[in-house]
Amino acid sequence: PYALYHCLREKGPIIWDKQLNCWTILGYRAAMSVLHDSHFSAQVFHDDLSEATQSLQDQYAPLLSILSHMMFLQDPPHHTRLRGLVARAFTPRNIEAMRTQIRQSTQQLLEKAHVEKHLDVLHDFAFQVPMKVIVDILGVPHEDSKFFLKWAHDLDALVQEVPLPLAERIPLLQSISECIDYFRRLIHRRQKLPQDNLLQILIRAEEQGDRLNKDELLGTCILLLVAGFLTTSHVISNSLYALLEHPSQMRLLRQHPDLLPQAVTELLRYDSPIHEVARRATCDLHLQGQQIGAGAQVIISLGAANHDPEQFPHPDHLDVLRAENRPLSFGHGIHYCLGASLARMEIEIALETLLQHLHNPVIEEAEWESGRALHGLRKFSLSFD
Ligand code: HEM
Repeated sequence: PYALYHCLREKGPIIWDKQLNCWTILGYRAAMSVLHDSHFSAQVFHDDLSEATQSLQDQYAPLLSILSHMMFLQDPPHHTRLRGLVARAFTPRNIEAMRTQIRQSTQQLLEKAHVEKHLDVLHDFAFQVPMKVIVDILGVPHEDSKFFLKWAHDLDALVQEVPLPLAERIPLLQSISECIDYFRRLIHRRQKLPQDNLLQILIRAEEQGDRLNKDELLGTCILLLVAGFLTTSHVISNSLYALLEHPSQMRLLRQHPDLLPQAVTELLRYDSPIHEVARRATCDLHLQGQQIGAGAQVIISLGAANHDPEQFPHPDHLDVLRAENRPLSFGHGIHYCLGASLARMEIEIALETLLQHLHNPVIEEAEWESGRALHGLRKFSLSFD
């Protein structure tokens, strides 16, 4: 996509997309301004069921209401309240406490691959690491994680860039309804869940009535599933792929593992899974010479901003030693990713373990996902010595 971004950016950092009827922000500085500006609202959710019959609309209205209550689609004060509650699970102490367990599980995952000298990077590793983490944070039974992969993929497909025809959306909506029913059942038998995990914190807040309603509780469970799982999986696999394509950078990291934290920043800039976030202008605004009308939809291309040559010299080069590197991969402003430190830790540990274990890796198969909301590989396997 990066060649296309450069081509579009020649028209300016902010362009009008006639086809989609919205503004697209391609420049880094403009993207920062929009994400920082409270005149842009995050309430952009609409699932266009207009082609649907009334009975379908009625059937899925509760589901759509739950999805619209996810915090990244909310403005203050609702957003502030929801974020405050969920943030309790993401304190530096809580995150640090997960380090040993993440390290152990990444090591275990690679043991089997070691015997076979073959690794299905996505299914045997990149999906597994963040899945275990999110299951622990929420405090849901580990054996249920087998359902999470399908639900996360279905949500990703549902919100993809070009909306699917209705007939293809219905099975996805059905699948998300199952996910919601799953969390409903879990909340119902809450006594059996661990006491100090995020789900219990949220349930208690909901029971106290004024701090969280049922839709917000369910929306938050689903958000963590989508926001925390496939994103991190894709960064692990995209990063490994990028390093395999740049053997000198991979060698450098093997020799100097202490460079990993800054390498992760660069890998997040170079090829991150979330390429777009959306906002809506709440009033008429001027932005870098463009006039944005009240109500206009604005797509902020994080992928393009991260490759803006005005901000990042030689943006399409991977340079793990890059200085002054502040990509927008985790967003910016009040919606800045709540799981950023946790995700960085997971990615660092995952890459460190992969670099230790994979000797002379050779890509056997690699296929990119197309059209999904998240940018990443659909198939990726390796053999090694
Ligand atoms: C928000 C990216 C991992 C939880 C966001 C946003 C981005 C992002 C770009 C801002 C959305 C917006 O402005 O509209 C990523 C990437 C990840 C990652 C690239 C992996 C490398 C995680 C993890 C969690 C998480 C591991 C939690 C377990 C959240 C939450 C929000 C969010 C709750 C909403 C914050 C708010 O609206 O205030 N993420 N994320 N993310 N992320 Fe992440």
